[in-house]
Amino acid sequence: MGNSIFRNELAEFKPYVQGKPIEEVRREYGLDRIEKLASNENQFGPAPKALDAIRDELDELIFYPESYPFDLMNELAAALGVARDQLVLGAGGEGLLWQIALCFVNKGDEIIVADPTFDVYRIATSILGGVTVRIPLAGMRYDIDAMLASVNERTKLFFLCNPNNPTGHIASRAEIDRIVRALPEDVILVVDEAYYELAAITDDYPRDSIRIIAERPNTLILRSFSKTYGIAGVRFGYAVTSPEIAARLGAVGPSFRVSRLAIAAARGALKDAEYRDWYAKENAAARKTLTDYYATKGWTCFPSYSNFVWTDTGLDSKWFFEELQKRGVIIRPGYLWGDRWKTYFRISTGRPEQMQYFIEKTEEILGKAL
Ligand SMILES: Cc1ncc(COP(=O)(O)O)c(C=O)c1O
Repeated sequence: MGNSIFRNELAEFKPYVQGKPIEEVRREYGLDRIEKLASNENQFGPAPKALDAIRDELDELIFYPESYPFDLMNELAAALGVARDQLVLGAGGEGLLWQIALCFVNKGDEIIVADPTFDVYRIATSILGGVTVRIPLAGMRYDIDAMLASVNERTKLFFLCNPNNPTGHIASRAEIDRIVRALPEDVILVVDEAYYELAAITDDYPRDSIRIIAERPNTLILRSFSKTYGIAGVRFGYAVTSPEIAARLGAVGPSFRVSRLAIAAARGALKDAEYRDWYAKENAAARKTLTDYYATKGWTCFPSYSNFVWTDTGLDSKWFFEELQKRGVIIRPGYLWGDRWKTYFRISTGRPEQMQYFIEKTEEILGKAL
């Protein structure tokens, strides 16, 4: 057999499995109404101040953006109470995860993640020849002891998704403190807080994670504007870390990765605390609609601090997903995360009428199946 023209790692590469685009579902089933509740997008519309800022930026689009946007970095640093040289900006949290992989992973290095968790940690690592060590959850929590026990001299990165995707559960302050105390200094701790603002309205969420950096400089806290401010389409996220890591990480990847529209939108969003707080409340209400409904069905779900809920229906998730899709509701079936989760599904929160539509369609499916 001849050598492949592609990197060796691509022979085994398993990319992210996307759901079907709305247009395709519409064509295939001839549907008028489709509610896509599969990607944890904010269904309430972009933050108004972000939208205004985008409109104001349109005439500037002939110019490249600043690689280190001066005003945005100052404003963000002030909002977070950190120094601007502790910030790294990226094309969403996902863009930052790819930068992190490029910055730290050598062939044969190991990363430690929970199972299930956000798959991009594994995907970005695997393409560089890194190895993902997955530690199953213990019940509805992280198995912190098992995760720590898996650390060895090859471990490079330790990922904690907080809240976790797809389960929505959180690691407590005590659990994070245990990791901070036990993790060897040269292992980079990555705390992915893509849903931070949605969880931070609850007191049991350790919302002061940035404090870890002073104690443990080899730490990265990741956040995103995609969910909280409803601007997933413009791609903006940031990392807070030590100045030493920020200098290296900021230099990795495309220099113009944060577009002018993303910079403008992020500056606008930062002024829109009103929208952020409103969305966090709407999201919590939508979550309650879902969990109240699940209770009537006897379905168990993980306690979610996020804009999605992970639920065990006892039904075959592929079947349930297909039945819902036929009726214009797109969710994420659990089998995609492996056999253990084949009766689970994840649904994103949405506006009240979207939640009702999902409930109506589910009732229709269950009525037919019984
Ligand atoms: C846990 C987690 N991290 C990061 C991301 C990436 O988000 P974005 O790239 O839109 O900031 C997501 C998106 O779903 C996520 O669930």
